[in-house]
Amino acid sequence: MTTICLIPGDGVGHEVIPAAAEVLKTLRPDFEYRHADAGFECFERIGTPLPEDTLECIAQSDATLFGATSTPSTKVEGYRSTVQQLRKRFDLYANLRPTQSLPGTFSRQDVNLLIVRENTEDLYSGRERREDNGDTAISERVITRKASERIFRVAFEQARLRQQQRHLPGRVTIVHKANILKETDGLFREIGLAIAAQFPDIACSELLVDAMAMRLVKDPESFDVIVTTNLFGDILSDEAAGLVGGLGVAPSGNIGAETAIFEPVHGSAPDIAGKGVANPMGAILSAAMMLDYLRLNGDAHRVRNAVYSAIRRGVRTRDIGGRANTQEVTNTIMGEL
Ligand code: NAI
Ligand code: MG
Repeated sequence: MTTICLIPGDGVGHEVIPAAAEVLKTLRPDFEYRHADAGFECFERIGTPLPEDTLECIAQSDATLFGATSTPSTKVEGYRSTVQQLRKRFDLYANLRPTQSLPGTFSRQDVNLLIVRENTEDLYSGRERREDNGDTAISERVITRKASERIFRVAFEQARLRQQQRHLPGRVTIVHKANILKETDGLFREIGLAIAAQFPDIACSELLVDAMAMRLVKDPESFDVIVTTNLFGDILSDEAAGLVGGLGVAPSGNIGAETAIFEPVHGSAPDIAGKGVANPMGAILSAAMMLDYLRLNGDAHRVRNAVYSAIRRGVRTRDIGGRANTQEVTNTIMGEL
């Protein structure tokens, strides 16, 4: 039997994960759903953001649906970003962040791109320190051949898959800053071009990250797969989400060799948490990505279509220009299933 681990986490995670779970349970009552705890609220309650039970639940499930967790911007003794820890612990090395136009005036049209973000290293390696009596802060940027090779493979394989699905020529854009970061991004770029040579059916080009940031606003329709390092991918994917309605509608998947964790791109949204107004579409579209991962493409398709139909009916939370609450949006999507 297929087992799904559900982790709401913090803040609006408690609102959007139950919404996505409702959709999943309607579609797949045959799955087993297990609930697990993680995040800052969990840390404050029991002293750890990732209890053993939770790690076990993820390891033993076929896939996990995760909400978001809070990480204070100042140091808290004993606490590190929960989602970062999960990505490391389960070696979830590829972060897939699709941006697709939605059928509303809040969204740009004709956008259908996928950002493939390296998920384990770069400036997220945690190698930071203070020197000079605290007046100089240093962060080490780590790029390895192993992590770069596997992320480029994922990007080119995704381009092939999309080429088959969309009947359009596959294209990969490698994004870096190798003109300045000659060692780190130099290595990343060199490996990207070498892997590209193994995929002669996929067109490959490269862009410096600053130029990419501009092109993403100016002509997002021209991109297919974009592959980049961890921090650039983090930033560019939020920018891309802004093209189609914002963080409330953006889904993602953290994929490893053993398991995968799907989550909306947004965080715990403390400014709206507890009010019942969070947009559940990012979480529900993440559940659709999870169904694709489980090779249940028909179910994934049904979920996406239900979301699109609900939008066409004019149902919107505040972030995309409406007044509906989380439950009303969820009910409409369920009605469309
Ligand atoms: P955020 O994504 O939580 O919020 C940014 C803005 O988007 C806010 O105005 C919020 O109201 C809005 N927003 C987010 N999700 C929404 C939804 N579903 N519906 C409607 N509006 C939504 O990012 P922020 O404020 O930078 O971070 C808040 C906390 O979340 C921090 O502690 C941060 O560390 C954490 N975070 C966690 C992530 C994760 O667990 N993967 C990812 C990003 C941030
Ligand atoms: Mg982010």
